[in-house]
Amino acid sequence: MRSTNRQAAALAALLSMIACGPSSGAARPAERLSAQVGAPGIGDPDFPLDGNGGYDVSHYSLKLGYTPSGKRLDGVATIKATAKQALKRFNLDLKGFEVSGISVDGAAATFSREEHELTVAPATPLRQGAAFTVKVTYSGVPEPIQNSSNLGSYGFIPTPDGAFVACEPNGAKTWFPGNDHPADKATFDFEITVPEGVTALANGELTGKPETVDGRTTFRWREAHPMTTYLATATVGKFQLRQGRTPDGIRNLAAVDPKFNDSLDRLYEVSGEITDYWGTVFGPYPFSSTGGVVDDFSAGYALENQTKPLYGGFDPDDDIIAHELAHQWFGNSLSIKRWRDLWLNEGFATYAEWLWAEHEGTNTADALFQTFYARQATDPIWKYPPGRAQPGDLFNESVYGRGAMTLHALREAIGDETFFKVLKTWAGEHQYGTVTTEEFVALAERLSGKQLDSLFDAWLFQPRRPTI
Ligand code: TRP
Ligand code: ZN
Repeated sequence: MRSTNRQAAALAALLSMIACGPSSGAARPAERLSAQVGAPGIGDPDFPLDGNGGYDVSHYSLKLGYTPSGKRLDGVATIKATAKQALKRFNLDLKGFEVSGISVDGAAATFSREEHELTVAPATPLRQGAAFTVKVTYSGVPEPIQNSSNLGSYGFIPTPDGAFVACEPNGAKTWFPGNDHPADKATFDFEITVPEGVTALANGELTGKPETVDGRTTFRWREAHPMTTYLATATVGKFQLRQGRTPDGIRNLAAVDPKFNDSLDRLYEVSGEITDYWGTVFGPYPFSSTGGVVDDFSAGYALENQTKPLYGGFDPDDDIIAHELAHQWFGNSLSIKRWRDLWLNEGFATYAEWLWAEHEGTNTADALFQTFYARQATDPIWKYPPGRAQPGDLFNESVYGRGAMTLHALREAIGDETFFKVLKTWAGEHQYGTVTTEEFVALAERLSGKQLDSLFDAWLFQPRRPTI
């Protein structure tokens, strides 16, 4: 791998010298080349190689064939993007697989690989501002990411009857090449072919009836709203389905592995009811459908896959359904620009659990806050500042619990009316966009007319228990 990469670099350097030629004056080849190479990372300080620089993806079209028995994935990814700078070469993120060919705007491109970086050199360099299409043909047995920091494995995980696909934070690269960082969102089309009798569940809506030819069924799904790569899914297996609409009219699809048949109706009904309720609290549901999927893979976790939260091997209760559905606003419609701001996803989704309990009358947000606050001064959540999620321990309990406490402290400081206006305005002003903590603090200050620096500093950034 390394030697091909070096050869490619040497070739590119040579080509750039030829391109500069004697007539092009004083510009030094190395400089001109580096100005035209897309960075191998998108610029997240804590995940320097995640995502890529130099271009912006607008659409992924993923054509996948998957055979559970052999765990083999055959893929053709067609990626539409815009060059943000001139590009002689740029990177995609991809882990594993044999890549058999890449074209850019229909012309064969050269490429090389090193770790999770796939470097593509188009036959003709791309001009700044150019729209371009990359097509990558690949196949192999997906290799999920194992036990990274405090997570189990994640990515495209083969199961006995299919695959469990949950990719946060950077596991999309285990099943398709792309710009694998939430700062670059795009729309998606999926065309997934599996053995007859097996169901493939991706994001958004089915664009037609599944078609069966020669014992293989093709499912076509479209997610028409911008989505981060980690929220994309193509969960495959035997599933029982229930489809319809929520009481407020949002499309609703619940799917469960046959082992969880008894959970289907409750999942469908509770997901519908909670989606509608969040619509009244956070503003209109941002996507075209809601629902949930329970697979029999014992991940022990759930992920808020866009339009189809995925529950790994357990019957989800109200708390976790409320959590994953709140993420459709906070995390999915609004995505973080960098991972250290993860409390904007997890703190909000955890606070939503408290709001749901309050709505149901089973508890109050304040009582739940007090329970957390009563933890001893030596409890690890007081050491870990949730406003700066750490790359080796991204999903620390503090990001969830102390993140939620931060919102409760804000609510206490500005009052219910302004607090809920902040939540709705936040979701509305940044719908389908990317956000930072600074922007949230600025909004809370704008709507409340209060100086809130010390509140947010104590709750989000200090390694000790705030005083109340
Ligand atoms: N975002 C998930 C939640 O809190 C947790 C999570 C993080 C996760 N990484 C994951 C779940 C990877 C599945 C796979 O709801
Ligand atoms: Zn969450």
